[in-house]
Amino acid sequence: MEFLDLPQLLSAAGTVRLPGSKSISNRVLLLAALAEGETEVRDLLASDDTERMLEALQALGVGVTHLGGEHWKIAGCGGRFPVKAAELFLGNAGTAFRPLTAALALVGGDYVLKGVARMHERPIGDLVDGLRQLGADVTYLGNDGYPPLQLKPATIRPGGVVKVRGDVSSQFLTGLLMALPLTGETVAVEVVGELISKPYIEITLATMARFGVVVERDGWQRFSVRAGSRYQSPGTVYVEGDASSASYFLALGAIGGGPVRVEGVGADSIQGDVKFAEALAQMGAIIETGPNWMAARAPEGGLVAVDLDCNHIPDAAMTLATAALFAKGTTTLRNIASWRVKETDRIAAMATELRKLGAQVEEGADYIRVTPAPLKPAAIDTYDDHRMAMCFSLAAFATPLRINDPKCVGKTFPDYFERFAEVTRAAPVIAIDGPSASGKGTVAARVAAALGFAYLDSGALYRLTALAAQRAGVAWGDEAGVAAIAAGLDVVFTGEDIRLAGVLVGDAIRTEEISAGASKVAALPAVREALLFRQRAFNTAPGLVGDGRDMGSVVFPRAPLKVFLTATAEARAERRYKQLIEKGFSANLPDLLSDLQQRDARDSQRSVAPLRQEADARLLDTTHLTIEQAVKQVLDWFAEASFH
Ligand code: DC
Repeated sequence: MEFLDLPQLLSAAGTVRLPGSKSISNRVLLLAALAEGETEVRDLLASDDTERMLEALQALGVGVTHLGGEHWKIAGCGGRFPVKAAELFLGNAGTAFRPLTAALALVGGDYVLKGVARMHERPIGDLVDGLRQLGADVTYLGNDGYPPLQLKPATIRPGGVVKVRGDVSSQFLTGLLMALPLTGETVAVEVVGELISKPYIEITLATMARFGVVVERDGWQRFSVRAGSRYQSPGTVYVEGDASSASYFLALGAIGGGPVRVEGVGADSIQGDVKFAEALAQMGAIIETGPNWMAARAPEGGLVAVDLDCNHIPDAAMTLATAALFAKGTTTLRNIASWRVKETDRIAAMATELRKLGAQVEEGADYIRVTPAPLKPAAIDTYDDHRMAMCFSLAAFATPLRINDPKCVGKTFPDYFERFAEVTRAAPVIAIDGPSASGKGTVAARVAAALGFAYLDSGALYRLTALAAQRAGVAWGDEAGVAAIAAGLDVVFTGEDIRLAGVLVGDAIRTEEISAGASKVAALPAVREALLFRQRAFNTAPGLVGDGRDMGSVVFPRAPLKVFLTATAEARAERRYKQLIEKGFSANLPDLLSDLQQRDARDSQRSVAPLRQEADARLLDTTHLTIEQAVKQVLDWFAEASFH
């Protein structure tokens, strides 16, 4: 499975331009097509659903011009599609299928609307019933109540009143409302049952108003459009950014200092999820808003827990569940039963994954309660749910973590993690790679001490793996066996001390035998894979110095400073010789030199993560340098790298 490892974050600040809202994008495209005049649509969401709508409009003879980027020009057809007979394929795009059905059923023409198999399992009967009351001629080509559909020219009944159910999906009402002006008559729509997802109907009404059609309404029960209402192009329409997507960045600003500013939604937004900002403000965040932007900053004393009814912002409320990890006290999110029937059972998924990180979580049928605790690294599963992936990225302020299947964000925000990286600052890494006995361990440990950073002796992990395998009677060449040992290594690093299964290891991993074993197990891809996340979990605040062979190339490729630290083989053999003699071991210089050369060859010629100087690594040859000189050089380079 694909994964993304996030280092611990230090801060967040910056500006993000949000991708366009999906709900608004497809409404605007259809109304622009039905309007009189040309409409320039700017900041359209690039997604499957919008692509299906654009294709359909083209097939209907509407002039569609790509202006570059996310900008399009739609030549409106004044309510009469030039192509009077067509078969349209709409994939699995519900936001294209429902409103196009309504519009094409009333506009007069001979059309067939189809989708993928899954689309043919999604009900459309309530909408068809409504359209038939107006005189539309709709035939089910497959099962009754489901696509595919055949549409023939309607005989519109004047003075119509349409009854439509509002308690299943608000999309049927949206489709009907947008199509009403095409009848040329005064028509009223009466909602049967309690209307759900009211904010989405607000979006529909606001978009229709933008195109010059005013819907008269009596609360949420009755809506009517007068005869003679026609869509007029407003010229240029900017599609608002997606308000649910804004929630992650506002939360980043509230947790990570900020300000983080999102552009594309603001006080003038017609999307219900902008109310998320108010919830964040209740947690103490400092929120500023303009007509088309919002920004969040962290409060002086940190965030505080809230107890909130989240029924009006079910999607954005998920972001509060992970923001709660950074709020003093216990946060309760109530009235969120709908979470259980979304992309996944979001209450269960959220609780399971929060617990993996060490948080205290209580869940009920329609609520979740989160109490912060010291968090630990974990691999987070995302359940094919874009919002799980985006929500858990916030937890990186507390601990490094792994996000499994990060590409699931593509549903609404394909480049989420790129934008995320742009506005966050990760704990920095100084990656020091080089051959055995080059002195990099000593240099790395001293650099770490000077900066107050953590220190990762990655070679020790391979040595520990070799030792643990030997103790368990697993041969060093047994890839699966050694990888299992590596994955389960019970090791604790405390300063210079290393404990394996609770017992101090000392020099047992520094013998020549274990050195050879380490070099052998390090050549096994499965072993390297098993140790990868364990190494990345050291990437905590305020920073890390890692030493090894592949720190800069594989483990920390984004390290702001990479050093390739080396010395001639002779100088290194001599250093090792002195070390061994000082420790009271017997040693033979020519043997040491030849061992070292063999290990160099194995480490640099193996196929996985071979030792080599990265193109962006600085070369530090210590043959003629003292340790102090080498340390100073690394610190100077780091100061320079941090400055830039
Ligand atoms: O740095 P060291 O001598 O303690 O490393 C022991 C072995 O582990 C060495 O043969 C190379 C291997 N190693 C590696 O392959 N990748 C690392 N990042 C660190 C060490």
